Amino acid sequence: MSTTTDNWPQVEAAAQESLGKDITRFIEQCRAGDEPDSRLIAALHEVQAQYGYLDGEHLDAVAQLMQIPAAKVSGVASFYHFFRLKPRGRFMINICMGTACYVKGADRVARKVISELGITWGETSSDGVFTLEGARCLGTCGLAPVVMIDDQIHGNVTPDKIPPLLEKYLQKAQEPQR
Ligand code: FES
Repeated sequence: MSTTTDNWPQVEAAAQESLGKDITRFIEQCRAGDEPDSRLIAALHEVQAQYGYLDGEHLDAVAQLMQIPAAKVSGVASFYHFFRLKPRGRFMINICMGTACYVKGADRVARKVISELGITWGETSSDGVFTLEGARCLGTCGLAPVVMIDDQIHGNVTPDKIPPLLEKYLQKAQEPQR
């Protein structure tokens, strides 16, 4: 992607439109400081916080506004696991794979979720309801093994509890969002 400035006003306007006012302002502050490249991760976090994930258009717009090569921006976005490059599902399932949960069978719970949903780590179910991620420790080791769905902790989870749990959230997904 070119970052030449002959059509800069149009490029800048398109990038601003893609990212919105707040993020544009944030990036302007990053550029005004020392070593704006070092703020790239912060800028990407802002975009993900607002849009839920980073798509190609967002990454191009960040590259344009920060004047950083697009290849570097997408390289950073794909390197770090906390950046999501695809839309997340309605519910985020985090299965704790920390030591306490692992020894209590988190891997069996994970295999059940994976087989029920037909997806693997980092993926979203085809109906857009669930995104599956792993976590190191959710801080509730006494309830191991633990599965967190959005901000709700489910403790002492066993593989046979997974189908009714997923069903409960599937039903929730069909309720109108407030
Ligand atoms: S190891 Fe799973 S909650 Fe701590």
